[in-house]
Amino acid sequence: LPIRASSYTDELITTAKTIASPGRGILAIDESNATAGKRLASIGLDNTETNRQAYRQLLLTTPGLGEYISGAIFFEETLYQSTTDGKKFVDCLREENIVPGIKVDKGLVPLPGSNNESWCQGLDGLASRSAEYYKQGARFAKWRTVVSIPCGPSALAVKEAAWGLARYAAISQDNGLVPIVEPEILLDGDHPIERTLEVAEKVWSEVFFYLAENNVVFEGILLKPSMVTPGAEHKQKASPETIANNTLTMLRRRVPPAVPGIMFLSGGQSEVEATLNLNAMNQSPNPWHVSFSYARALQNTVLKTWQGRPENVEAAQKSLLIRAKANSLAQLGRYSA
Ligand code: 13P
Repeated sequence: LPIRASSYTDELITTAKTIASPGRGILAIDESNATAGKRLASIGLDNTETNRQAYRQLLLTTPGLGEYISGAIFFEETLYQSTTDGKKFVDCLREENIVPGIKVDKGLVPLPGSNNESWCQGLDGLASRSAEYYKQGARFAKWRTVVSIPCGPSALAVKEAAWGLARYAAISQDNGLVPIVEPEILLDGDHPIERTLEVAEKVWSEVFFYLAENNVVFEGILLKPSMVTPGAEHKQKASPETIANNTLTMLRRRVPPAVPGIMFLSGGQSEVEATLNLNAMNQSPNPWHVSFSYARALQNTVLKTWQGRPENVEAAQKSLLIRAKANSLAQLGRYSA
């Protein structure tokens, strides 16, 4: 039985199970306006609301997307936007049986007293914002905080990250939103994979300690971890098998089987790397649905193909389906490059 009774408990569990359904994962398109600006600049476009809407419309009207995608994470602006024909983006998703989600954190700021580390804003007013997002059709939420290995991480930064995630998770569940719990352990650094494993174990043990202390219903959350890899500047790259072994070791040690889904971030891996690593993790049965919640690893080729031109929309949508299908196969452990 769930450890906390709430009018939303059954619905949370159903939502989480729908998102963690076989062969499907999350399309993360919750770039803040600042980050969206960087992506648009990479293809020579200005960071206007019109361009952001056009790009999101391209993604969200891709025919057949729901075969591979079970959830899509929006930035607040996108939740209120529609297609140029006037269909709400939320309704585009519903037609494809894709659950709408919303990024609710307010971003990172310096953490005083730490080793140049950061903490995540957004708890003030979160309950009322969450209730409003639910009314707009959102059924899950995301809160991304980061942990830096080269900066320590300090005990203070890890504790703050874990506590913030747990408070956010409890508030989300209270308002009917399944919380995606995302302490991103940044890839930056020249450390070996063993060091990432050690830090990831520490971070996840604290996250689960505080989730439990806040009476969060584990059956109604999803996780968004970084894969356990060597630092990006480490001299040796690891194979998908090594990454899968280390990542699954960490998860088995730290994540209860009550959690329905593990939806990895891509964190700067190439599209094919992210797919191969996910595929390697699904070569034998796991206690949880092990899948993807990729932004860059689903969108890089789409953006390059689109170039902001209406005549390229169809080709760009095809390239989205190619990556989505590849990751769907990887979720099932059946991808080959
Ligand atoms: P990437 O897959 O690009 O790392 O994005 C992760 C993320 O948190 C977006 O929601």
